[in-house]
Amino acid sequence: MPRIIIGATGSVASVRVPALCSALVEQGHEVRVVATEPALYFFGADELPSGVKLHRDADEWPGDQYRRGDEVLHIELRRWADLLVVAPLDANTLGKFALGLCDNLLTCLFRAWDFGRPVVLAPAMNTMMWDKPATSRHLAQLWSDQTGRDAPAGWSLESAELHFAREAPALILVPPQSKRLACGDIGLGAMAEAGRIAEVVRDWAERSTPTD
Ligand SMILES: Cc1cc2nc3c(=O)[nH]c(=O)nc-3n(C[C@H](O)[C@H](O)[C@H](O)COP(=O)(O)O)c2cc1C
Repeated sequence: MPRIIIGATGSVASVRVPALCSALVEQGHEVRVVATEPALYFFGADELPSGVKLHRDADEWPGDQYRRGDEVLHIELRRWADLLVVAPLDANTLGKFALGLCDNLLTCLFRAWDFGRPVVLAPAMNTMMWDKPATSRHLAQLWSDQTGRDAPAGWSLESAELHFAREAPALILVPPQSKRLACGDIGLGAMAEAGRIAEVVRDWAERSTPTD
């Protein structure tokens, strides 16, 4: 069965990470979690299904000093995984992905990723954050990095999912949903339901598993 890494960032939607893990484990996947430090404000290792390993930034820097031959965790994780699911993807990490910044385990993993294997992106942020031009610009940059072209005329947050699916299928965008957010605001920005993200993973697994 495919091996999946869930990348969790500092959105309140990280409270759903244990549920997403459970759904993917139930599908039969081997699952690991790479969490940013802010993500760990929202869930703990003890909430993950048994057998699901949590990797955090400190795990990149074990011992007092690097010794030749020591493993480089983000590279080992890249080799291990068949799919990366960044859920929730907060505004900060989206911006880092778009700019190519890599100052923690998750952003190093994304920067080092082999896009022969897809990455699912499930953004989650306040509506006012989602609506800022930076969100569309950062998603467009990721699309351009995949295609080698400028974002198409008419690029928008609404059309982004379709553009990724058609022209940059290594990035699977699962758009946020509209609802009352944890902060009390009502609007677009809440992470898609864990069940919806699990469905997207199931579709990918079915497409990538040979039928005979
Ligand atoms: C309670 C709380 C909830 C937050 N929720 C979100 C969110 O849903 N989306 C978002 O983009 N940022 C959110 N933030 C801000 C991020 O945690 C902050 O930008 C952080 O630096 C992200 O770091 P990371 O991308 O390395 O995880 C929240 C912060 C707090 C304190």
